[in-house]
Amino acid sequence: MTKRRATITAVGHYAPPKVLTNAELEKMVDTNDEWIRTRTGVSERRILEQGATSDLAVGAIQKMLAHRKIEVTEIEIIIIATVTPDMFFPSTACVVQDKIGASNAWGFDLSGACSGFLYALVVGAQFIESGTASKVLVVGADKMSSIIDYTDRNTCILFGDGGGAVLLEPSEDPDYGLLDHRMYCDGSGGAFLYMKGGGSLNPSTHESIDKRMHYMYQDGKAVFKVAVKGMADVSAEIMQRNNLKGEDVAWLVPHQANLRIIDATADRMGLDRSKVMINIDRYGNTTAATIPLCLSEWWLEGKLRKGQNIVLASFGAGYTWGAALIKWSLENPTQS
Ligand code: COA
Repeated sequence: MTKRRATITAVGHYAPPKVLTNAELEKMVDTNDEWIRTRTGVSERRILEQGATSDLAVGAIQKMLAHRKIEVTEIEIIIIATVTPDMFFPSTACVVQDKIGASNAWGFDLSGACSGFLYALVVGAQFIESGTASKVLVVGADKMSSIIDYTDRNTCILFGDGGGAVLLEPSEDPDYGLLDHRMYCDGSGGAFLYMKGGGSLNPSTHESIDKRMHYMYQDGKAVFKVAVKGMADVSAEIMQRNNLKGEDVAWLVPHQANLRIIDATADRMGLDRSKVMINIDRYGNTTAATIPLCLSEWWLEGKLRKGQNIVLASFGAGYTWGAALIKWSLENPTQS
């Protein structure tokens, strides 16, 4: 029996209009445009001034549905990858389900930090592959500005807000869609990238607020070392498992945390920079949104072709990391 595979049949993204430039950050913390660009690759990022993560998700879903004209009631499952849910509960998936009117869907949030979208994609694909569902909405969305300390130059320069959405459906041809994945986590990395306050370990108190525990913290140097190896290793592993060489891969879609990490991954894969999706310069690190944001932009620009091998790769808090191989099946929007 041939395997029922999950494939991406629609993509969409939403970036809020407000731009926060490096020049503006220079006025907020002791930093400069040159340092930010050379150390990270970021020139500007977007900020959601009003609203919450669910609004970023809904913006992306609406764009997606404008291309794949299904009834919203056909959506069966909604998975939202985020570290900045609207609230602890109800889940952002429930909020989104109500906002878009997906009255036949159930759903849940998934906490995988910067690997959240990849984790959610793989989870969503299981429902398709098992025959449990035929339309699964997978979203990566984060309002990072809600947990960033804009007095901390180590982190505030890196992150931005955004959302991306994909629809998973069964592939008509089993050679297309999500072909393989390798996912990892290592909880011993938790000490280097976290937000300590607000959970059951450190509930919100005046003291937790005074200690700035409701902002994200990152030991950038420590994370950089493992991220650069983790993302390159897992990307090389997915290629090896599938007997792929650099020339067989059309696109690398890397999590956008730091341009230097992206470059190291591309080098390890033997990929020319022209085959790497990079938009960190315009959006910074939008955590769970980076990969679908790239996919959506590149697809809209007509750069994705049916049959291309695409490698998605990420590394993030946890630590969490992974890579996935997709044979792209969605026709170019300029042809459809
Ligand atoms: N502007 C100017 N100087 C800054 C600065 C800023 N925004 N932030 C830090 N610096 C300073 C540091 O204080 C340090 O000064 P010192 O040498 O006098 O102590 C110097 O610049 C170098 O800092 P360092 O932390 O070594 O820089 P870096 O080259 O490692 O870059 C990061 C910092 C955060 C950009 C980088 O470590 C990184 O990208 N880390 C991994 C991010 C990641 O992958 N996260 C996982 C997914 S979220």
